[in-house]
Amino acid sequence: MNENSERVIIFDTTLRDGEQSPGASMTIQEKISVAKQLHLLGVDVIEAGFPVISPGDFQAVASIAEQVKGPTICALARAVEQDIIAAAEALQTAEKKRIHVFIATSDIHMQHKLKMNRNDVLLKAVAAVKKAKTFVDDVEFSAEDAARSDINFLVQVIEAVINAGATTINIPDTVGYATPEEFGFLIKEIKRLVPNISQAVLSVHCHNDLGLATANSLAAIENGARQVECTINGIGERSGNCALEEVVMGLKTRRDIYQVDTQINTQQLLKSSKLVEAVTGMRVQPNKAIVGKNSFAHEAGIHQHGVIANRETYEIMCAQDIGFESNEIVLGKHSGRHAIRLWVKKNNLNLNDEQINQLSQEVKLLCDKQKQIDDVDVFEIVKALGIDERIPFEATQFLGTKRW
Ligand code: KIV
Ligand code: ZN
Repeated sequence: MNENSERVIIFDTTLRDGEQSPGASMTIQEKISVAKQLHLLGVDVIEAGFPVISPGDFQAVASIAEQVKGPTICALARAVEQDIIAAAEALQTAEKKRIHVFIATSDIHMQHKLKMNRNDVLLKAVAAVKKAKTFVDDVEFSAEDAARSDINFLVQVIEAVINAGATTINIPDTVGYATPEEFGFLIKEIKRLVPNISQAVLSVHCHNDLGLATANSLAAIENGARQVECTINGIGERSGNCALEEVVMGLKTRRDIYQVDTQINTQQLLKSSKLVEAVTGMRVQPNKAIVGKNSFAHEAGIHQHGVIANRETYEIMCAQDIGFESNEIVLGKHSGRHAIRLWVKKNNLNLNDEQINQLSQEVKLLCDKQKQIDDVDVFEIVKALGIDERIPFEATQFLGTKRW
C-alpha cells in the first residue's frame, strides 16, 4: 500500500446481510469460522449479526466479539432502544466495537412500512444515534432505501445524525435500483450538500437486483465514498450484495482509475469464497467473477495459444493473487494443439508432432460426446492409441482430481 494513498474501509456483511439470503443460515460455529477467515482476509469491519432478532444471532455476535480480535465487530440494530441495547450487550467483549443503526428515509418505506412522517423519522434517527453513543464511540447510521429517498430530506437526516455523533454514514441502495452514474452522483451531492460530512466516513451498501452492485459501489468510491459494504460471493437479500472479491479486485486491478487501496490480503479470497460456499450451501457459479472455477481457465484454442505465449494476452489478474494454484488450460473441443502439447509436456510424455495431432483429434471426438474431460480421459486416449507406453507413475497420482 502506498503510504500517501487513501484507503477504502472494507465492511463485510456476509454474516448479517449475507445470512439473510434464503437458505443461507449458518450455525454459530460456522459463523465463528467465517469470522476468523474474514480476519485472515484482512477486512476492517465484520458485521457479525443482528442480535435482537434471535438468541442464536445474539450468541453468534457475542462469540465473535470474544474470539475475533483485530477487526471492528459490528452489530445491527433498528432505530429502537431494545435493538440498540441488545447490540451493545452482544458486543460487550469486543476489542473494537461498532453499533450500526438504521431507519428508512424513502417516502415509500416511511409511508407503507414505518407509517411515520419525515419529522418522526428524523427524530428517531437522532435519538437512536444518541442512544448507541451511550455504549460505543463508533456508531454507523444507515438511511435505508437512501437511493430512492428525497435528497433534501436525506441531507437533513445525515447532517442531524452526524451532529448526534454518527461516525459513519451509510448510503444503501436497498433495492438495487440505482445505476452507476446516478449513484455516483448521489454520493457527490451528499458530499457537496451536507455541511458536516467531513466529520464522518461516507459508506455505501449496494444490492444486486439489476446486477449493478459492484459497478455502483465503484462509482460511489470514485465520487468519495470511503467504506464499502459487501459480502463474500456477493450473497445477501434477493440477488445479493456487492461481492467483496469483485470490488476489491476492481480497485486493485484498476488502481490507475480509483487510486485507493484496501488492506485485503487478496490471496485469501478463494479460501474465503470456498468456506462461505461450504457453510451456506450456496454454490458459486463457474463463471462468477474472480472466484468462479472458470475465472482463470481457458478452453478456446486461440486463447490457449495466447496465454501459453504470454498470460497477459487474456488475463488481467494473476490467478495466484486470488489464491488459485495456477491458471488452467482446459482441454475441450475448442482447444488446439498448443494446449495438447502443453499437456503432453506437463505429463512428461514423449510424443512427436504426428502423435500430438492424433491425440488432438481424439480429444475433440471425445469432447463431442461428453461435456468435460479430465486427465484420466486423456491418458486413456493415449493408451488406446498406443502412442506412449511409458506413462510415468507420478503423473497418474492425481488422475481424476484435476480438470484440464
Ligand atoms: O440493504 C439495506 O438497506 C440494509 C441496511 C440495514 C443497511 O441492509
Ligand atoms: Zn442490505
